[in-house]
Amino acid sequence: MLYFAYVSNVFKKSSLNELSRIFPDMDILKDYREIVIFNSKKRFSVGDFNKESPIFTYNIIRLNEKKDVSTGNYLDDIYKTAYSLKPRKKSRIRIECFDLNSRCGYSSKDIEVYIGEKLESDGYCMDIMNPDTLLYLVIIDMTCFAGCARRNEIVRESANPRRRYARKISRAEWKLQEAFEEFHIPNGNLAIDVGASPGGWSAVLVNKGFRVIAIDPADFDESIVSSDAIAYHAARGKICEVDKMNNDIIHLKEKLTSAVKKMDGIIADMIAIDINSPGKDAAEAAIMYSKYLKKDGALLITIKCQTKFVKSHIETAKKLLRKKFKIKGVRVLPANRQEVTIFGVKI
Ligand SMILES: C[S@@+](CC[C@H](N)C(=O)[O-])C[C@H]1O[C@@H](n2cnc3c(N)ncnc32)[C@H](O)[C@@H]1O
Repeated sequence: MLYFAYVSNVFKKSSLNELSRIFPDMDILKDYREIVIFNSKKRFSVGDFNKESPIFTYNIIRLNEKKDVSTGNYLDDIYKTAYSLKPRKKSRIRIECFDLNSRCGYSSKDIEVYIGEKLESDGYCMDIMNPDTLLYLVIIDMTCFAGCARRNEIVRESANPRRRYARKISRAEWKLQEAFEEFHIPNGNLAIDVGASPGGWSAVLVNKGFRVIAIDPADFDESIVSSDAIAYHAARGKICEVDKMNNDIIHLKEKLTSAVKKMDGIIADMIAIDINSPGKDAAEAAIMYSKYLKKDGALLITIKCQTKFVKSHIETAKKLLRKKFKIKGVRVLPANRQEVTIFGVKI
């Protein structure tokens, strides 16, 4: 059986180890950047895979077709491959195109538009936001691999975040949006955002109904500072009682070690930490701020990992976090780069 998996490019080695634990007889056919196509005798079960809590791998689906598209009309051959899978009524197409020799001259986008329009003219409905099925076409050097699956048949199905969410301030916003979805984090009243500038996460949190105490010596983006939609206040000194906070965001323009001394009386529903320091420092920050999080309150933290020592970075952070938190999930989300996102709740 032929399978397709998305893995994290920066954590390729760990990703392949993860996959080979699930598919011990895995025989890799193609391995390009974030994509692995492999053969395995083991029949794939989403349930089995989810029990393993994959950290690095997502979008695993079975591929039903493999076709050489070098001989006839390139786009039509790809279309015929897609059509033969008989996608359901509401479908989304996802195309990954690795045309190494640039022989075809079409981009993934060109192919997607062509296939999408043609399927629509044949009575299918393309639904990007809420499809029943996903149609995957992976085109590698004149070979088209195609698979079609219902969404619940895909391990950690993820869309390209660039498509799903508008980005306003920083790329980091995608990480937080994805984490809310992946871990089903509830909304709440008050969040502490550590390492908050230029304010992407804070803005997402405000949109989810939180008021935010944002900690970072660096400035916030001008679009927040001068926003009509978000009430922003740059503060030094002690934070006033939460009930008196009239602003959506109170920005303490200082380092986390000095800001923590000004938190008396604060009980937050969530702590979000995204500092650009080693994972160990981030985990220590979480311990330091845990005092101001309610019991069962959510912790979301990015742990930067050097790719050489991925395992030890994650294990060190987890060990520290376990002093105050129950860890609920560790994942590389599509928008993560050289980092993992950990979700925990306060014990
Ligand atoms: C990746 S950026 C955060 C991006 C932010 N989450 C967003 O969505 O816009 C990392 C931030 O961590 C901050 N930072 C690093 N060390 C810090 C510390 N010790 N105390 C407070 N902020 C810190 C940096 O100033 C930087 O703005």
